[in-house]
Amino acid sequence: MLINRRQAGAALAGLALAACEKKAEPTAETKSDTGAKAGIMKHEWGKTPDGQTVEMYMLSNGKGMSADIITWGGIVTALKVPDKSGTPVDVVLGFESFDPYVKNPAYFGALIGRYGNRIGHAQFKLDGKTYTVPKNDGDNSLHGGKAGFNSKLWTAKEVPGGLELTYVSKDGEEGYPGTLTAKVTYSLTDDNGLKIDYFATTDKDTVVNLTNHTYFNLAGQGEGLILDHEMQIMADNFTPVDKGLIPTGKLQPVEGTPFDFRQPHAIGERIGADNEQLKLGKGYDHNFALNSKGGTLATAAKVKDPKTGRTLEVLTDQPGIQFYTGNFLDGSLTGKGGKKYPQRCAFCLETQHFPDAPNKPEFASTLLKPGQEYKTTTIYKFSQA
Ligand code: GLA
Repeated sequence: MLINRRQAGAALAGLALAACEKKAEPTAETKSDTGAKAGIMKHEWGKTPDGQTVEMYMLSNGKGMSADIITWGGIVTALKVPDKSGTPVDVVLGFESFDPYVKNPAYFGALIGRYGNRIGHAQFKLDGKTYTVPKNDGDNSLHGGKAGFNSKLWTAKEVPGGLELTYVSKDGEEGYPGTLTAKVTYSLTDDNGLKIDYFATTDKDTVVNLTNHTYFNLAGQGEGLILDHEMQIMADNFTPVDKGLIPTGKLQPVEGTPFDFRQPHAIGERIGADNEQLKLGKGYDHNFALNSKGGTLATAAKVKDPKTGRTLEVLTDQPGIQFYTGNFLDGSLTGKGGKKYPQRCAFCLETQHFPDAPNKPEFASTLLKPGQEYKTTTIYKFSQA
C-alpha cells in the first residue's frame, strides 16, 4: 500500500517520501496529535558486494523529525529536524546512494563495534591470553578492525516505536573472542530525539564498546564549517593521547586548556591554539571523561549553531564521549546534494567507554562475560530556538 503525500503530511514530506513514494511500504503508523503521521516506511536501497539486499527504513516521529537508517552498518544516512518554519533540514553527513557506503572511510553515520575507537598495538590480554586484532590505523586497531560492525549487514525488525537491528559477530571475527550478539534499537522520541539503545551478549569473555559515528552540522549538512558552533561538554577531565591517538592512561584536567568546554565555547575559538594535544589530534579528537561517570542517563554535551539557533543535546549513560572535529575530512568525499565535505564541516560526539580500555586497567572495564548484558542508551535531542 502506498501513502499519498497529503495523507503523510508534514512529517513525511521532503526527500524521504519524494524519493521513495513508489517503492516505500508503510509498515507501522500512528496518528500523532499534530495530524502528521508517525511511523516507519521501508524500501530496498542497494545490494552489498556479495549481492544481498540493503534496506532503508525511514522513521518519522510525527513531529517533523525523520531518520533514514540502512541495514548496512546500521548507518543513519539522513536525519531531518524541523527548522523555525517546520521545514525539515538534514543535519548529518552522508551519501545519496548506497555504493559509497561500502567503503565509507570516514564511518559516516555508522554503528561501530565490536570495539569503538582504538586498541593500542592492536592487541589486548584477556584471561591471560593475548588477542591480536587487525591493525587498520598505523600500529593500532580502530573501530573494530578492517571489517567492523559498520560494514556488516544487520537484520532489521520493527519493534513498537522503533527499528531493532541485530548482528551476530562470530567467535574470532576480527580477532575478538566469543560470539557476540549485538542488538541496536533506533527510535525517535516525541521531543525530537534520536534514541539509540545498544544491547549485547556473549558466549565467551570478550570486550565490547559500541557507538554511533554520525557527523553533525547543525546548520545543515554541507552548509559550511562547524567552527562557530558553540560546544559544551560536561567533563572536568579528558584523556590525553600519544602520537597514535592512544590514551596515555592519565586523566588531565581541562581547566586552563582549550579542552575546557564546561561553559560553551565556539569550536573554532581555540582549535588552532599552540597545544600539544590539539596538534596530535589535528584538532579535537579526544575522549572526554564525563562528570556523570556513566551508569545513568545524563546530559553529556550541548551544541548550538548560532546562525540557525538549532541545538543538539547528547544524553548518555556511558562514561566517555569522543569529540571529533572531522580532522581527517579533506574535501575529497562528495556527499548528499553534491556537497563536498572539507575538514571541520561536521563534528562527532561518540558516546563510549574510553579508548584502549582493554589495555588500561585504570579505565572502566569493557569486559563482557557470558550471562551478563551489555546495555546502554544514548539520545541525540534537537531543539530550535
Ligand atoms: C574517530 C577517531 C578519529 C577518526 C574517526 C574516523 O573519531 O577518533 O581519529 O579515526 O573516528 O575518521
